[in-house]
Amino acid sequence: MYLYMIICIIGSGGREHAICKKIYQSSKVSKIYCLPGNAGTQQLAENIDLDIDNFEKILKFLKKSRVDLVIVGPEKPLVNGIVDFLEYNGIKVFGPRKIPSQLEGSKTFTKNICKKYNIPTAKFGIFETKEKTINFLNNSKFPIVIKADGLASGKGVYISKNLIEAKEAVKEIFDGKFGKANKILVEEFLNGEEMSFFIVCDGKNYKIFKTAQDHKRVNEGDEGKNTGGMGAYSPSGLINEILEKKIINKIISPTLKAIEDMGEKYKGFLYAGLMISENEPYLIEYNVRMGDPECQTILPLLKTDLIDIFNACCDENLENLNIKWREEKSLCIVLCSMGYPDKFTNNIKIENLNNLKLNNNDFIFHAGTKNEKNEIFSNGGRVLNFVSLSNSFKNSRKRAIKLINQLNWGNGFFRKDIGFKIIDK
Ligand code: AMP
Ligand code: GLY
Repeated sequence: MYLYMIICIIGSGGREHAICKKIYQSSKVSKIYCLPGNAGTQQLAENIDLDIDNFEKILKFLKKSRVDLVIVGPEKPLVNGIVDFLEYNGIKVFGPRKIPSQLEGSKTFTKNICKKYNIPTAKFGIFETKEKTINFLNNSKFPIVIKADGLASGKGVYISKNLIEAKEAVKEIFDGKFGKANKILVEEFLNGEEMSFFIVCDGKNYKIFKTAQDHKRVNEGDEGKNTGGMGAYSPSGLINEILEKKIINKIISPTLKAIEDMGEKYKGFLYAGLMISENEPYLIEYNVRMGDPECQTILPLLKTDLIDIFNACCDENLENLNIKWREEKSLCIVLCSMGYPDKFTNNIKIENLNNLKLNNNDFIFHAGTKNEKNEIFSNGGRVLNFVSLSNSFKNSRKRAIKLINQLNWGNGFFRKDIGFKIIDK
């Protein structure tokens, strides 16, 4: 039995506010810290302004504050080994260790697993020099996909329509636009519809943690530049029992087997970014965390105490937990700073937030916000997440848009067409 737990959440986005809100509702939690958090988490937790790349300082804080459990939101500290470090120092932590986090940290690590375990994915080649890459591209069909290895916050991916665009992408990657590049990945372009598939895993067993679809492009109609995510909806319209079985058998199970064969265990959320093509799933990429804004979209549907899920994962006891979900349709719209994902201005006041009248099925999760003297200011490209649950995606979207319009933030913009593939078809 767990009681009066002190929890620490690492991260500062909408995902972390959604996690914070959910565990705030748990009767087993007595105190929450967020490192560093945002203006939303500050209403529920104590924000601590610490550099989340400085593991020694984090450890010192956790010990001093007698934290019982740490939840790591973003990928960077996971890929850099925060879980190994904290576990070594006797701290209980939810998230995958450094080696399994390579599933997100290194695209070539994942592609090599796909090859060895026969996991359906785009055909690919890995190249170590500009010349070799361009030689290959000279004989390729277009469009083609070119990716930097390593973490690039979703930005190191080019879909090149012709050789000229492809050469430019190769040049940018090898010139270090996404950090030092020793390798480049060239991939076949997959046609189809994308879907996010989540599991939560305790190292031995796992449970499905719902599906979602997100909108990564900045403009309506899924046009324009890639972003962190402009909105999402859950469940995905593509999922059915047969497809779910294929995803498990062809993608999830062999991946977990690969991690086990390395002598490792996978503990935490695992997010498979899939392309569904004629009812067949192909792996595009793995993320070793919840998606953002998928997390904000999915967690309001969760009925089970999230703290029970985290504890069961850390105790390798997930098998005995029955995760329950609400049946409604959840849709999230992200309100962004004008100019995002390019240049935008921070520190613009957001008035009116407290005047919005939310009902039980409305949720506002903060992302890039900060609180100064009890006033809220923008502090990032993606600022607020408006989530609504209802019996149809159409109604959920209508409600989220209504709330954004009521807020009427002068520096904001958002996509009005989130969910168009399922709502407007
Ligand atoms: P990633 O960072 O690998 O998720 O790629 C970002 C986005 O690029 C994905 O969400 C897809 O929309 C697109 N993408 C990546 N790889 C492919 C591919 N092989 N075929 C088609 N689209 C892709
Ligand atoms: N929504 C995409 C991501 O979290 O990577």
